[in-house]
Amino acid sequence: MTDQKIDGGKRTWIIASSCAGAIGAGFVAVPFIKSFEPSERARAAGAPVEVDISALKPGEKLTVEWRGQPVWIVRRTPEQIAALPKLDPELADPKSQRNPDELTPPYARNENRSIKPEILVTVGICTHLGCSPSDKFVPGPQPSLPDNWAGGFLCPCHGSTFDMAGRVYKDKPAPDNLEVPPHVYLSDSRILIGEEKRA
Ligand code: FES
Repeated sequence: MTDQKIDGGKRTWIIASSCAGAIGAGFVAVPFIKSFEPSERARAAGAPVEVDISALKPGEKLTVEWRGQPVWIVRRTPEQIAALPKLDPELADPKSQRNPDELTPPYARNENRSIKPEILVTVGICTHLGCSPSDKFVPGPQPSLPDNWAGGFLCPCHGSTFDMAGRVYKDKPAPDNLEVPPHVYLSDSRILIGEEKRA
């Protein structure tokens, strides 16, 4: 197992480059727990990252680093999964048809954008200008979100919102859904990020 951290839904990876100034003082960068397998050089070159998700509980998110980006793994609750189809009319690209070769591999071109309905794997970088959205998993009215909020992610930079499948809402600055990276299950509890098949 390499870099990973269980996140109860409240922490945020901040990409410092493009829009840190717009984020404000209320957000704090959360460092990854570093390990040295694979090496930093290999990681930068895009070495696949193996992740153990056995400790991930429903409603929790785990973050790993792949190619210098945060990759989120969320174990969705049955309620979160059930809410997804109802959101289609509010989304910009509910069927993930935009830039599918870049954003959504064939095995994730479905309502859940995932191989297994309960497990979301997505790159935690907003498709607008590259900030990292915040977890807003709790449904209902709250600041900066609509009263009928169903749970998802809010980008603090310019207000783009994404559902629990990383699908962007309509009329937001972000043009596209969050990217689903190439990945494959090695077992029920282990995912390899960065490869689609074992060699
Ligand atoms: S970077 Fe602008 S809304 Fe996310």
